Amino acid sequence: MSQQPSAAGAAQALPGHPFVAYHGAELQVENVRLSQLAADHGTPLFVYSKSAMLTALAAYQRGFAGRHAQICYAMKANSSLGVLQVFATAGCGFDIVSGGELERVLAAGGDAAKIIFSGVGKTRAEMRLALNAGIGCFNVESEAELDVLSQVAESLGLRAPISIRVNPNVDPKTHPYISTGLKDNKFGVAHEDTLRIYQHAASLKGLQVVGIDCHIGSQITDATPYLDAMDRVLDLVASIEASGISLAHIDFGGGLGINYNNDTPPAADALWAQLLRKLDERGFGQKKLMIEPGRSLVGNAGVCVTEVLYVKPGEQKNFCIIDAAMNDLPRPAMYQAFHAIVPLLAKSGDAPEVRYDVVGPICESGDWIGRDRTLAVKAGDQLAVLSAGAYCMSMSSNYNTRGRAVELLVDGAKVHVIRERESAADQMRLERLVAI
Ligand code: LLP
Repeated sequence: MSQQPSAAGAAQALPGHPFVAYHGAELQVENVRLSQLAADHGTPLFVYSKSAMLTALAAYQRGFAGRHAQICYAMKANSSLGVLQVFATAGCGFDIVSGGELERVLAAGGDAAKIIFSGVGKTRAEMRLALNAGIGCFNVESEAELDVLSQVAESLGLRAPISIRVNPNVDPKTHPYISTGLKDNKFGVAHEDTLRIYQHAASLKGLQVVGIDCHIGSQITDATPYLDAMDRVLDLVASIEASGISLAHIDFGGGLGINYNNDTPPAADALWAQLLRKLDERGFGQKKLMIEPGRSLVGNAGVCVTEVLYVKPGEQKNFCIIDAAMNDLPRPAMYQAFHAIVPLLAKSGDAPEVRYDVVGPICESGDWIGRDRTLAVKAGDQLAVLSAGAYCMSMSSNYNTRGRAVELLVDGAKVHVIRERESAADQMRLERLVAI
């Protein structure tokens, strides 16, 4: 299927969303009108721009030009196969956190040797799966995990390539649920224990030490915490190497933020220009670099298209009830996160401008998508929830037995269905009635 951009008026891209733009009155992703996609596929509906993903990736690639670097897409942000395929084809590796994610990467054609495996609770079965697949590196998060991984690798006659995730104890100045590099987080090993734990790792027969890893949090909009974390990690690299253990790579994790609501994160290439300067100054410019970006590669490549079911005036509040809900878009309920909400048709009609809480149909007061939003809408109008490419579909659920939404990948004027709408039968497939 292909569609033409509407002719009227110059395209007006939405802030932070270079491939989501009004062409005349019609909101488009790349060259495709969202109203047409909603008519063809129903709502709620996720639409992703391939060019937006590749453009976001290109900023990192520019930042690393001439360096020995590997970009591992943190697929927890959006693990749909069609999205993984885009990054695998572009040469990315993947940061995984479960055996399931490993199976997805392999199904999407990803290269096992470019996979890094993060997470505090890897099971023996997941370790075996990853060792047999030949992944590039395990990011180990505790001393106990080192011992178990060494045993599992030895039992397979293999050596597991490892980095240890260190906790640099810097404040990323983001939401507490998504900051991970502080002392009271469950992630990584404490700075002061790192050297001793590396020495322990180097003594284990089933392991091969290849690197060091850190990740300080997510939706970081300032370069300072990265620069501070880099200093702390480089101090450790110096002391670990001085003790005779060489580190082939340094993994700086992910975490770069996107523009949800007038946020101004640095561009990936600008951030890395600063970080590389520091690496060079401190004499580590020749090391292989790894990074694990998730949100910044996909977040603003996606929108969720939804229909207004009812408008419901109230004494204290007016509600705009839409057909997308917290099962599709869990970030507002979980983190009070802000997602911009815009109409598919600018100036669509005669509805008055009203201040609404935009809410879903789920039976929870926490099922809201936007609060105090001024919209001119009536039942049947369609809206786009922006910045919905990261941590939306991958965190979606079937709560209230709602099927997961359709996902489309737009490439110019081409539209690919990368996930069909989930039916009630799909949801019940693994369940059994009992013989009563
Ligand atoms: N590496 C590790 C070890 C991580 O834990 C994460 C994210 C990433 C990389 C990727 O971070 P990013 O570049 O996407 O910021 N659900 C939350 C975000 C949780 C992030 C968890 N870890 C949200 O919706 O804001």
